[in-house]
Amino acid sequence: MKALVYEGPGRRSWKDVPDPVIQQPTDVLVRMIATTICGTDLHILHGDVPEVAPGRVLGHEGIGEITSVGTAVTELAVGDRVILSCVSACGRCANCRSGLPSHCSNPEGMPGIGWIFGYMIDGTQAEQVRVPFAENSVYKLPAGMTEAEGILLSDILPTGFEIGVQYGRVHPGDVVAVVGSGPVGLAAVMTARLYGPSKIVAVDLDPARLARAREFGATATVDSRDPDWKAQVLALTDGAGVDVAIEAVGLPVTFAMAVELVRPGGRVANVGVHGKPVELALNELWIRNITISMGLVNTNTLGMLMKLVATHVLPVDGFVTHTFDFDQVAEAYDVFEHAAEHDALKVLIHRT
Ligand SMILES: NC(=O)c1ccc[n+]([C@@H]2O[C@H](COP(=O)([O-])OP(=O)(O)OC[C@H]3O[C@@H](n4cnc5c(N)ncnc54)[C@H](O)[C@@H]3O)[C@@H](O)[C@H]2O)c1
Ligand SMILES: [Zn+2]
Ligand SMILES: [Zn+2]
Repeated sequence: MKALVYEGPGRRSWKDVPDPVIQQPTDVLVRMIATTICGTDLHILHGDVPEVAPGRVLGHEGIGEITSVGTAVTELAVGDRVILSCVSACGRCANCRSGLPSHCSNPEGMPGIGWIFGYMIDGTQAEQVRVPFAENSVYKLPAGMTEAEGILLSDILPTGFEIGVQYGRVHPGDVVAVVGSGPVGLAAVMTARLYGPSKIVAVDLDPARLARAREFGATATVDSRDPDWKAQVLALTDGAGVDVAIEAVGLPVTFAMAVELVRPGGRVANVGVHGKPVELALNELWIRNITISMGLVNTNTLGMLMKLVATHVLPVDGFVTHTFDFDQVAEAYDVFEHAAEHDALKVLIHRT
């Protein structure tokens, strides 16, 4: 089969690799229907995630059709069309059973980390994929759901919702600021609405992304290149700051912005994957009673979000802006890496 292989920092190639095989009785094999690229794949390609070894097939999002099932699999069958979660969880270890599948301690891939696709085991930017713990890690694609809708459930919708909105404890009436209007930030903007905030302020430095944020439910937008960006956000509050600030970029500067925006007693939810240490001025922050959260997505809200997508309570059709075939994966990366030039958000790569 063909797959997108990481060849070391800055290098990737779409090339022939051996077909995957069933290794564990709980595995299934999936023939990919569609996949996509995540900001985290770019972090890997830039060498920010050194645990990823050259030779690894990239990608952790996708939809596919089951072609083979392990002997322990009873709830899934050949021919089922499924959404793959970016987290592969055994469902049996202490962390899985306490609601933290992102830290599944099964030795598959890397004990203690549930996100293993395109990281510790071969991923989804491939014609075929071996899916471990399939019955705990895939969801049958609801009838009528499009590829462009289903693909968002692998990672970005659960990430924006769980690590941004839920960890940030958005309450009715809150003013929420989301720093970064990429796919993950926009997923936070859209799912924050489920909790009835009074205002959602999107902050980005790309006017096209800010225009999108308004379409996705932001009630106000602020261009972070404006010298008075902070005053503009605070003017939308009682002057003391936002209740919840969600960081969805992964840079020291944007984390600092989120911390600056939050009111005393408020919550900062960091979603971004950081490639460098970030300074925390505890000497100034301690007196503000703020809560800072962070984490790796669990995808344990995937089934719930799937219902909201299927019923269009979450109108997600604006996320996919570009569509490519598998053999155009290099072009798809170019567009995604230079998203601002192409006005791109999520790229769908599908089999022909
Ligand atoms: N925690 C998790 O489990 C998890 C899961 C998936 C993705 N992520 C991370 O979430 C982050 C966002 O992902 P994405 O795919 O939306 O990324 P993206 O790169 O597409 O979007 C980032 C956005 O931030 C904006 N931005 C950059 N610098 C800025 C600044 N100084 N001020 C304001 N805006 C700025 C960009 O214009 C862009 O719109 C990434 O770091 C990604 O790795 C985390
Ligand atoms: Zn991702
Ligand atoms: Zn587990």
